[in-house]
Amino acid sequence: MTSVESIISGVGSHLPGKAVTNHDLAKIVDTSDEWIRSRSGIGERHIAGDDEVTSDYATTAAWNALDQAGLKPKDIELIIVATVTPDKTFPSTAVYVQQKLGAPPGIAFDVSAACAGFLYALNIAHNFIQTGQVKHALVIGAEKLSCFLDWSDRATCVLFGDGAGAVVMSANKSHAAAPPRGVLATYLSADGRLAEHLFADGGPASTATVGKVRMNGKEVFRNAVQEISNAVLEVTERARVKREEIDWFVPHQANIRIIESCAKRLELSEEKIIVTIEKHANTSSASIPLALDAGIRDGRIRRGELLVFAALGGGLAWGSTLIRY
Ligand code: UT7
Repeated sequence: MTSVESIISGVGSHLPGKAVTNHDLAKIVDTSDEWIRSRSGIGERHIAGDDEVTSDYATTAAWNALDQAGLKPKDIELIIVATVTPDKTFPSTAVYVQQKLGAPPGIAFDVSAACAGFLYALNIAHNFIQTGQVKHALVIGAEKLSCFLDWSDRATCVLFGDGAGAVVMSANKSHAAAPPRGVLATYLSADGRLAEHLFADGGPASTATVGKVRMNGKEVFRNAVQEISNAVLEVTERARVKREEIDWFVPHQANIRIIESCAKRLELSEEKIIVTIEKHANTSSASIPLALDAGIRDGRIRRGELLVFAALGGGLAWGSTLIRY
């Protein structure tokens, strides 16, 4: 018997602009390298240039993922961009990626689920593939968070960065006799009662402005540790996988202390975690595919290994994915 699996056939990423260090930020707000490192694990972040838009580096990440998959834009039937910083209010950033790649007409749209956006988009692409609607999909997390940071608020502006990561998801026919590959289990959730803990205080229908990021850091931290840990347990249970079988935990990169607290609760050793926060900071929906790409390109993550992704962010929205790479 055969079934359709949705496998990751390629991964790519791109960091735009230039690296801005904690020392650079200490020149514009009352902060220090010591405070930022000890409270968050962040050392630097990339900030896109004024002339760069999200779809520019989303497209570069997509090219890198296509190269790794050995595919061309003409092979892609679905493009989903997870972002809260689209080039324009509409149309979607996905259609600009489609345009810049020179991809033919196909399905293209954006997903708004903040830091959990990449996992929401991955789940949607997985469903398109499993139902036989598309063979190859591009799933991209891309953000230009620098465009709506309040550069006078030291409690938020030091935490975020710009970047893009992309995966190509492909349909793969499997035989029941062979161990399953690709997406093994997914879990998504959101709780709008917690929306005021992390949001942008603007929008087309409310202020007709983009707004600035506002965060109740302590509440987000507490929810992140609880829900990310639960989300990992949820997918391992759904796939009937033991926690000790996980080869790599690839979490959303918001705060090293959140990642370490989750790892402790889940009894996952530090050597099994991909951490990129020191160089990338929090890039919202881009952070998991950026970390995944880093782990694959430096040779740590290998084909056949069991990966778990998990994230929480604005919404609050959260989720996880268990995948045999
Ligand atoms: O992507 C998902 C969304 N984001 C997150 O998951 C982030 C979740 N939250 C966090 O990562 C942490 O709560 C923060 C890193 C944001 C803050 O860490 P904290 O340990 O909760 O610090 P705090 O907010 O309690 O602030 C402690 C002190 C305060 O001073 P007082 O009131 O104790 O005198 C702040 O004013 O640190 C001060 N502070 C700073 N000091 C130097 C806040 N930001 C800074 C700063 N530099 N950049």
